[in-house]
Amino acid sequence: MRILVCKDYESMSKKAAQIILSQVTLKPNSVLGLATGSTPIGMYKNLVDMYKNGVVDFSDIITFNLDEYYKLPITNDQSYHYFMQENLFNHININPANIHIPNGMADNIEKECEEYENSIKDAGGIDIQILGIGRNAHIGFNEPTTSFEKGTHLVDLTPSTIEANARFFKSEDEVPKKAITMGTGSIFKARKIVMLACGEDKADAIYNTVYGKITPKIPASILQLHDDVVLILDEAAASKLSPSDYLN
Ligand code: PGA
Repeated sequence: MRILVCKDYESMSKKAAQIILSQVTLKPNSVLGLATGSTPIGMYKNLVDMYKNGVVDFSDIITFNLDEYYKLPITNDQSYHYFMQENLFNHININPANIHIPNGMADNIEKECEEYENSIKDAGGIDIQILGIGRNAHIGFNEPTTSFEKGTHLVDLTPSTIEANARFFKSEDEVPKKAITMGTGSIFKARKIVMLACGEDKADAIYNTVYGKITPKIPASILQLHDDVVLILDEAAASKLSPSDYLN
């Protein structure tokens, strides 16, 4: 696991965008695994700027998002479909046919999950997966539980996630209580994983990701077993790590 500690959110976001730039430059038809949440917004801004400055061409990329709320229409401004359009897709030259986000409105959720997994497989697997992390160390919406889930599935959100995400809704009652998420197994199959975290409230989750016991109770701890993981952190998120583990 490589750990990059950046002085602030801006430099963390820039570094993450540079990694995507280099991936897409080397392989224009890269399969990118994308994340939502407040953490990657700065990275997306940097990517949009790079595109506007003619530094990168997204016309051949294929994307798969980690998750989507269950039964929240995509026109709702808190849906992850809406988030991705607003923060990235509306501003770059991605082919809309190459965008994949789980359909939380599907009538047959089991079929939707199976088809999502199959589409990732048909695209040749994910080259680079961007991840945020929850305060409870969830990745995607894989909440702490008793066993790692392999594939895309419907999940009950934990009270701590509902509370954390209430800041985006008018009230906690409006936060969906379920979501479709790629499984820990789907995430783990990505050839490269880049996790972003910023702020003091992620320091414990990051500590547990790096040093904790590998257990589904700390979903991100599984990343210790992956061959190609980079954590890009600001100083606050890295504050509980030993500086001797940093790669600077
Ligand atoms: P955040 O969410 O970026 O809004 O903190 C991360 C997550 O819950 O995975």
